[in-house]
Amino acid sequence: MDRPSKTKPWSDIDLSHWRDYDHVLTDSLWHFPSRASGEGHQLDYHGNFIPQIATQVFTRYTKAGEIVLDMFLGSGTSAIEALNLGRHCIGVELKPDLVAHVAAKVPPDRLERDVHLIQGDSTTQATADAVRAALKVMGETHAHLLMLHPPYHDIIPFSNQAQDLSNAPDIETFLDMFEAVASHGYHLLAPGRFAVLVIGDKYAKGELVPLGFWCMERLNQVGFKTKAIVVKNIEGNERGKGQASNLWRYRALAGGYYVFKHEYVIIFHKPGG
Ligand SMILES: C[S@@+](CC[C@H](N)C(=O)[O-])C[C@H]1O[C@@H](n2cnc3c(N)ncnc32)[C@H](O)[C@@H]1O
Repeated sequence: MDRPSKTKPWSDIDLSHWRDYDHVLTDSLWHFPSRASGEGHQLDYHGNFIPQIATQVFTRYTKAGEIVLDMFLGSGTSAIEALNLGRHCIGVELKPDLVAHVAAKVPPDRLERDVHLIQGDSTTQATADAVRAALKVMGETHAHLLMLHPPYHDIIPFSNQAQDLSNAPDIETFLDMFEAVASHGYHLLAPGRFAVLVIGDKYAKGELVPLGFWCMERLNQVGFKTKAIVVKNIEGNERGKGQASNLWRYRALAGGYYVFKHEYVIIFHKPGG
């Protein structure tokens, strides 16, 4: 006889049939040999995350028809994957050209209804208000999952705008700007729901700068509880290797450090609900 389905309020995964979900990862080490392509995804932007990250966390932490809020939308990986998985997406991005680029990738009849794009600075109250207005249009008061994939400080300069986190003049300013986004995200997310930070560390002046852990602390500061730190390989993120990777290996051997091959997918929970 079929067992009655057993689900959590934040997921469609049927725990009565938990053995059927081999494709949903529960280990803290993720290795994806290559970037998933097709189904609307393209490697068309430096610094976009691989679609598998969105597939994993949307499947685990949302139900069909719910809203993912991405406060650093970039080239729209979250928006495309939300459509593929029958979720909705509100995406905020600072660069107007990028917002237009993402809009062109979304079927016109699905813009506004299923994917709502906002050009703005995610650190500001005005942008948070615009997200609230979009939620209202979509018939909700809060988002159901928060995605945060900020610039890894100044590793890749995304624009020449001062509001761009990649132009923060120092780490402290970068973290303060990130905390402002995290705080807006916290209030826009429904209680009892999850947030996901995707980030890597960096080196500066011969020293490792643990951006991932410092951003995690800022998320804890605004009220989020850390649920998991996943380490994910970065193969598939970059286009070219060859000569450059030999150079990095030489520098690592000579300088006594290690070449980054991982980044973090850190999972948080907003208490309540
Ligand atoms: C690492 S990328 C995100 C890539 C995205 N996950 C994807 O798959 O395409 C970070 C993005 O944050 C944007 N950004 C930087 N500062 C911002 C701000 N204050 N408000 C909104 N977006 C910002 C940058 O323009 C960049 O596109």
